[in-house]
Amino acid sequence: MIKLLTAVLAAGVFFAPVVHAQEAAPADSTTAAPQPSDATPQAGEGSAPGAAPDSGTGQGTTGDQPEEAEAHSGEAAHTPHYPLKKPEEMDWTFAGMGGHWDIGQLQRGLKVYKEVCAACHGLDLVAFRNLSALGYNEEQVKAFAAEYTVQDPNPNADGEMVERPGVGSDYFPSPYPNHEAAAAANNGAAPPDLSLIAKARAVERGFPQFVFDVLPWIQYAEGGPDYVHALLTGYEEEPPEGITVQPGTYYNPHFIAGPALAMPPPLSDDVVTYDDGAPQTIDQYSRDVSAFLMWAAEPHLVERKQTGLVVLIFLIVLASLVYVVKRRVWANTPH
Ligand code: HEC
Repeated sequence: MIKLLTAVLAAGVFFAPVVHAQEAAPADSTTAAPQPSDATPQAGEGSAPGAAPDSGTGQGTTGDQPEEAEAHSGEAAHTPHYPLKKPEEMDWTFAGMGGHWDIGQLQRGLKVYKEVCAACHGLDLVAFRNLSALGYNEEQVKAFAAEYTVQDPNPNADGEMVERPGVGSDYFPSPYPNHEAAAAANNGAAPPDLSLIAKARAVERGFPQFVFDVLPWIQYAEGGPDYVHALLTGYEEEPPEGITVQPGTYYNPHFIAGPALAMPPPLSDDVVTYDDGAPQTIDQYSRDVSAFLMWAAEPHLVERKQTGLVVLIFLIVLASLVYVVKRRVWANTPH
């Protein structure tokens, strides 16, 4: 039975690439066929979709468009896979079994969020009192909360909703009253709430790395913060030829859902002042805010890892004891 199973599995592994190749061949030839007709409407439309950021130069180069469109129609035939570039894997203090937060980094990340990202993004699931985990005492949390104006959840005696300074139990207020207002202010794309974004976005590493991701000592679970960091630092590049960037969007090869996104590059050097001497660069801001967003998404990450370690040690000790007891119990039974 086992031999049969092994044979079936081996046959599957052996023949799968062959079948795949056969499927791929006709698909290629069919997609190749309509290329010229595909290219023509593109050339007819001129440079309008691609030239939004520098429409001035776009006008001058319209003459080259038909040639370019033809030259790149081959590339267009392939369905692009997003993100165009995989995020760089960073060193995070919270990675691995003995992971821990770098409190200074989280405080800097909070500052970047507050001074830059909060203009467009909410943090609905984080209450001001949660900030005590970042090393702030009660007075500091109260003072921080009081800087915000929030709407009291309960109406006053006249039935009107009132606004008041925030207190520790309030949550970070959203910059927009509702989703529609957020979308209207950002070219139709509402900025997502950032509370869980570091857990919601992770770029898959693919084979063979994902095989090792289950092993406790070398596993990889930092795809989210790596992605946010790569996204924030990935704007500088020019779009490669053949990639069309829609008007009102910004090319970013790290964006998970397309070649460009509606968020303008939010960071620039020296935009936030650090008082602990950390470098005031886009890269450092991005690392700090990504770490902060990881904390926001999973504030108990470090405790979870510590508990896991204790549980593993306990299970190893228990397994050894069970083995020793088994040997004692069966010691006098002949076998
Ligand atoms: C001017 C407004 C604005 C600012 C400031 C801003 N963002 Fe955005 N952000 C957006 C918009 C709009 C989107 C939606 C983009 C889209 O879907 O095309 C977005 C999307 C995102 C996404 C999700 C991308 C995805 O994979 O869907 C992340 C993460 C993000 N922003 C992080 C940040 C961080 C961190 C900061 C602060 C450093 C920041 N943003 C500052 C407007 C902004």
